[in-house]
Amino acid sequence: MVHQIFVLLAALSCCFCCGTLAIENKDQHLRDLPCPPAEDIQPCVCTVIDSSTYDIEMDCSSVTTNDELASIFSKDFPYNDFFSLEIKNNFHLTTIRPGDFGQKTFQQIHILGGSLKTVEYRVFNSSYDTLTHLDIDNTNLDSFPFTELMLFTQLKYLRLGNNQLHGFPTLTSSSLQYLYLHGNSITGIELNSLPLLEMISLHNNSITYLLPGTFTDLPNLYYISLGYNGLQVLEAGTINLQTSSNNVYLYNNDLTSIAEGALVGLKGGYLSVENNQLTELAEAVFRLPMDDGVDVHAYGNPLDCGCEIAWLVTSDTYMNLLDDDASCTSGELVSELDPDLFEVIC
Ligand SMILES: *[C@@H]1O[C@H](CO)[C@@H](O)[C@H](O)[C@H]1NC(C)=O
Ligand SMILES: *[C@@H]1O[C@H](CO)[C@@H](O)[C@H](O)[C@H]1NC(C)=O
Repeated sequence: MVHQIFVLLAALSCCFCCGTLAIENKDQHLRDLPCPPAEDIQPCVCTVIDSSTYDIEMDCSSVTTNDELASIFSKDFPYNDFFSLEIKNNFHLTTIRPGDFGQKTFQQIHILGGSLKTVEYRVFNSSYDTLTHLDIDNTNLDSFPFTELMLFTQLKYLRLGNNQLHGFPTLTSSSLQYLYLHGNSITGIELNSLPLLEMISLHNNSITYLLPGTFTDLPNLYYISLGYNGLQVLEAGTINLQTSSNNVYLYNNDLTSIAEGALVGLKGGYLSVENNQLTELAEAVFRLPMDDGVDVHAYGNPLDCGCEIAWLVTSDTYMNLLDDDASCTSGELVSELDPDLFEVIC
């Protein structure tokens, strides 16, 4: 009896051990191929992140010098095309230089947190035809080679939010769809040629002026965020959208006037102008968007509420599209104004 139990246990434990071995082997295989040998790339760590496509990720969060990066990526690996590069919360690298990534190619690059200040020209030149996502967020980035953008022929997402970028970047790209530059110190922007652009986020910068034509020839653009900037006026021809539903955010600026023709093609979504210095919601500016179903958010403006808003106050349709909190300098809510009064005296 004791003997039988022993045999049974032995058989069972053998089974367990076989099972474990098989799993370990499979893991080992995934880790090793197509990743380079771990000892060749440390302190970077390579992982197969998709076992059907063999997509591999290089996590180099722990590198301490540029030379270390350059020496790792100059090695010849069995497979030199990486899916992604991750560098997170690295407080050693302040610059990345040409040659730091050798001839290796990436589809996605995510550098998040840390103290990176400068991305030099040609750093990712081997990835001109492969890079789809470039994400450098919340580092101290103040220098980025915007003029090189057009060479990244597959780049769809460019996220450089919450950095120290300043000045007036001019952008050209035939592939870019999503552009995030919020939380920087940018003073203006020129979208030279971005035919596929769909979203642009520029809130929380120092933009005081937008050139007429900035957001016009962009057939797919449906989202513009410009909140928390220093805009004072919007001139005719600044925004002209062609999409069937879109959102424009202009909250928390210093807008005193929006010219007729400054906001054209707004449809279906939101127009937010809260917390500005507007004294009127001019019919010539706001009526067309409201005719196309746009919800207008206008609280926090010193509205005069004279006859110039009679068009709005006397229409239930338009009033239903205005936020309930929009108020007059007198303190009254626009929603509480008596439409009959406006009918009679205006
Ligand atoms: C990238 O730039 C380096 C110089 O920094 C050069 O040696 C290399 O040939 C370039 N590669 C491509 C693909 O342009
Ligand atoms: C704006 O960005 C700064 C850092 O660049 C950040 O500290 C601040 O919280 C941001 N403000 C808003 C309203 O997003």
